[in-house]
Amino acid sequence: MLTDSARGARPLRQRRVRPRFWLLDFYGSAIGKKAVMAVTGIMLLGFVLAHMLGNLHMYQDADHMNHYGEYLRTIGEPILPHTGFLWILRAGLILAFIFHIHSAATLTIMNKQSRKTGYKGGRDYIAANYAARTMRWSGVIVGFYILFHLMDLTWGVGGADYTRGEPYQNLVHSFQREPVAIVYIIANLLLGMHIYHGAWSLFQSLGLANPRFNQWRRYFAMSFAAIIVIGNCSFPIAVMTGLVDLPK
Ligand code: HEM
Repeated sequence: MLTDSARGARPLRQRRVRPRFWLLDFYGSAIGKKAVMAVTGIMLLGFVLAHMLGNLHMYQDADHMNHYGEYLRTIGEPILPHTGFLWILRAGLILAFIFHIHSAATLTIMNKQSRKTGYKGGRDYIAANYAARTMRWSGVIVGFYILFHLMDLTWGVGGADYTRGEPYQNLVHSFQREPVAIVYIIANLLLGMHIYHGAWSLFQSLGLANPRFNQWRRYFAMSFAAIIVIGNCSFPIAVMTGLVDLPK
């Protein structure tokens, strides 16, 4: 077999290690990926809560809901152009979403590799593995749901009657299709599971997991998930039961 020097490769001692930007090094480590997953998770939690609270306008009437949709497009005017602020929010949301998925996927690969090389983390390892497994499939299903949701209520290609600028009517048309309303309810229950595990483990990922506060962490994760699930599931239920209907 040829040795390194016979192949013309430089001996290890002489190889130059190019310095990398510290943020890339940080993101390359398991701690960095966990921190990114936690921070982007907090951003996504903030969006999901604000989105659910905004949708409560539907319980007022069509005008309130539609004006609220229009108001979101005008924030920051005249300093920003029409929909400028919304696009800044969208860009932040898309970046948070991409990094959330990328850090989760690459952390899973790192974990698999460290397991192959014999690392065993005992009790924590079993708990993390259980949470990670449910997080993975609930995350993938929620991802598909968001894609359908955008097709349905933002791009208007989900098969229901759709008019740009009339989110109230679009919602009612969409949820009047019972199978769609049921898919929304199931997807939001899964989202609730994902949020519960995520809101619980983000403290650990940020190094804020003092066992004295475990009970509080559990309350926080449970209440946050419950508020989102109850709020979001109430919308399709309200349309299916006729509590919310098209304006006369
Ligand atoms: C039953 C629960 C939900 C209802 C009734 C609802 C309703 C809506 C409506 C009406 C729009 C379009 C707004 C417009 O016309 O400008 C919208 C957009 C959107 N929704 Fe939802 N939503 C729900 C749950 C969710 C969840 C759980 C997520 C994410 C996890 C989500 C993510 C989004 C996103 C990313 C947009 C696009 C926002 C934009 O770029 O303007 N929604 N939603």
